[in-house]
Amino acid sequence: MDQLKRQAAARALEEVRDGMQLGLGTGSTAKHFVELLGERVAAGLKVIGVPTSEATRADAERCGVPLTTLDEIDHLDITVDGADEIDPELNLIKGGGGALLREKIVAAASDRMIVIADDSKWVPTLGKFPLPIEVIPFGLGATRHAIEKAFAACGVSGQMAVRKAKDGHVFVTDGGHWIVDAQLGRIADPASLARALSAIPGVVEHGLFIGLASSAVLAGGEGIRVIE
Ligand code: 5RP
Repeated sequence: MDQLKRQAAARALEEVRDGMQLGLGTGSTAKHFVELLGERVAAGLKVIGVPTSEATRADAERCGVPLTTLDEIDHLDITVDGADEIDPELNLIKGGGGALLREKIVAAASDRMIVIADDSKWVPTLGKFPLPIEVIPFGLGATRHAIEKAFAACGVSGQMAVRKAKDGHVFVTDGGHWIVDAQLGRIADPASLARALSAIPGVVEHGLFIGLASSAVLAGGEGIRVIE
């Protein structure tokens, strides 16, 4: 599996040109991209990256990839990031690694978002992977109630749980928020659900990435597929 992730990352790297400003995703697949990019930088490639998490910032620094912020520059050429699920419209569920807020800000600031994944992430319909919803801890009960109403209005339902870190404490995002993971099973209309969740004041962001990905590089046993 790890080999497939690296192959997808290597294919995405072929799109990178000298002088590009890059969004650097988060997760085990995106980490392969950062490592391979670091090798190219060491060989003379001139690029600059914006990391989507503190973990990716640390990886990029370790690999010698020069970094900047979206305060210093206001647009990116390409973001390369992983995903938890990818549907045939290139809608995504992201946030399994907890970085969805910065990932979405960075993807939205990019001309192109290339999603890299092993082909187990390719699904006919989103929803089997629990949907991460980043929330403000204040008023969480009321926010959960509003989320349930949004689910009902969009024809989905399922258990919600506040994400815990490995040490058993509540998982806190890089932005200082919490994540609620919702087991929905099947999301028939992800665009409507995305709009409904975005309208809830206590929801900071959600893991539905609608219309942001320009292409997906999927690595499987039979080779690499690029879907656009
Ligand atoms: C992090 C993400 C990741 O891109 C997603 O969880 C996929 O991770 P991996 O490449 O480790 O399977 O959205 O917030």
